[in-house]
Amino acid sequence: MSQFDVVVIGAGPGGYVAAIRAAQLGFKTACIDAGVNKAGDAPALGGTCLNVGCIPSKALLQSSEHFHAAQHDFAEHGISAGSLHFDAAKMIERKDAIVTKLTGGIKFLFQKNKVESFFGFGSFKGKNGDFWQIDIDNKGEKSTIEAKHVIVATGSVPRPLPLVEVDNVNVLDNEGALNLTEVPAKLGVIGSGVIGLEMGSVWKRLGAEVTILEAAPTFLAAADQQIAKEAFKYFTKEQGLNIELGVKIESISKEKKGVRVQYELNGAKKDEMFDKLIVAIGRIPNTQKLNAEAVGLAKDERGFIAVNELCQTNLPNVWAIGDVVRGPMLAHKASDEGVAVAERIAGQKPHLDFGTIPWVIYTDPEIAWVGKTEEQLKAEGVDYKKGTSGFGANGRALGLGKAKGTVKVLADAKTDRILGVHMIGPMVSELIAEAVVSMEFKASSEDIARIVHAHPTLSEVVHEAALAADKRALHG
Ligand code: FAD
Ligand code: NAI
Repeated sequence: MSQFDVVVIGAGPGGYVAAIRAAQLGFKTACIDAGVNKAGDAPALGGTCLNVGCIPSKALLQSSEHFHAAQHDFAEHGISAGSLHFDAAKMIERKDAIVTKLTGGIKFLFQKNKVESFFGFGSFKGKNGDFWQIDIDNKGEKSTIEAKHVIVATGSVPRPLPLVEVDNVNVLDNEGALNLTEVPAKLGVIGSGVIGLEMGSVWKRLGAEVTILEAAPTFLAAADQQIAKEAFKYFTKEQGLNIELGVKIESISKEKKGVRVQYELNGAKKDEMFDKLIVAIGRIPNTQKLNAEAVGLAKDERGFIAVNELCQTNLPNVWAIGDVVRGPMLAHKASDEGVAVAERIAGQKPHLDFGTIPWVIYTDPEIAWVGKTEEQLKAEGVDYKKGTSGFGANGRALGLGKAKGTVKVLADAKTDRILGVHMIGPMVSELIAEAVVSMEFKASSEDIARIVHAHPTLSEVVHEAALAADKRALHG
């Protein structure tokens, strides 16, 4: 029977990165993954992120942004393109090619780093001395391998809505939403979270009439509310996304003409027909095929594998990372936990600061933040100061034709240490990195204010917001 120092279950951004790092540190490492490609006929590494998450969604966001820009923005640059044609199938083909390239890239990285790759579902069988026994089920073909350390990285799956079953024909989860080959005339989305906004934006830009039905009364409750309110205005007033908050979905039925959704909004009964309906109401940990109970692997009250701050489970030498454990469901969080666990197994003492994990929503304008929101600081009674600056008069943003949005820097009123940075605007997915580095190095807002920022760049808005925190904005 093959024995390994480290066996990773799951090859998403948590698992594949953990496996590569473990192998780099000299451990004999294997990674078991059950993911298959879109056709369902071959293994596909990379998990949710590469196959049906981060990467394909960003490909479609880019394609739809180009189409929208050609239709609406090119004219002011003096460019006319005649009659525009859009081919959704071609856009999906491009997206699929990017996915194939990247998932194939992980196969190559495994080979390069000597990570042994197994296809199938991994599950706990029991123990043999110091070794955990892990069964692998490859479509009924069974084998067992042994590991001193096991890293569980089985990720998450969409949270089901009890009112309707996803068929990925008319009622879609993220997988279906990423694979429509025709633009639906009327698209309904349940949930105005990250997926709802990103996918709603894609299909709206391509011509769909989009209605997003959200249960919560507050839009993007996790974000700083100044930024969330600005985003709501752009999405609804400028882009025409119809976002209804405080909705109670009462029934969903699949009918010949589409999907009927009956809901209550402000005490009034509503009845809407959609051609397609996306359900994006969050994700739940994926522990289904692990046989966790057989070995007593503990879960928390929400079904996540229970871990401490070091990603240790209740079982010796069994670790868990990524979406299957507490914390934000983000690819970079999963990867960084993977690196940290591999290094802990090697006896190192890496540190992952949850307070500096950035969030990005890839709408237009983009939204990004790191650290505390103003609402959190108020609730915690922290004495803070703030500086804001807009993209409206930024030369680069004007040149790009994307001169809208805001950067807000929150800093401790006494020490000036940066406590949070919140952004909405062009390419803030990239600008947030400066804020993350600053917070990791415990910088003050004055530190950012005193750093030279190239001109003309979007980063000057970050600079200006930091200056504003000290009431010395130059262009405000
Ligand atoms: P996963 O990526 O879910 O990977 C788990 C892997 O384990 C899968 O391959 C699965 O098949 C396999 N597996 C499960 N059980 C077993 C088993 N028993 N045996 C063997 N293999 C098993 N995050 C971002 O940071 N940025 C984004 O832009 C972003 N966009 C997203 C867009 C969408 C539409 C979605 C759905 C998610 C997005 N996310 C994004 C979230 C991101 O995809 C997840 O946080 C990330 O994939 C979690 O990584 P993971 O390794 O924990 O799990
Ligand atoms: P989400 O948690 O972001 O949003 C779900 C939304 O659905 C919430 O606003 C919630 O209030 C609402 N909701 C829940 N039940 C409802 C109901 N019955 N009726 C109406 N609304 C309801 O989850 P989402 O969008 O499914 O995404 C899952 C996760 O994937 C995200 O939380 C994020 O971690 C990750 N992701 C990250 C992205 C990024 O980093 N850019 C992009 C997409 C997903």
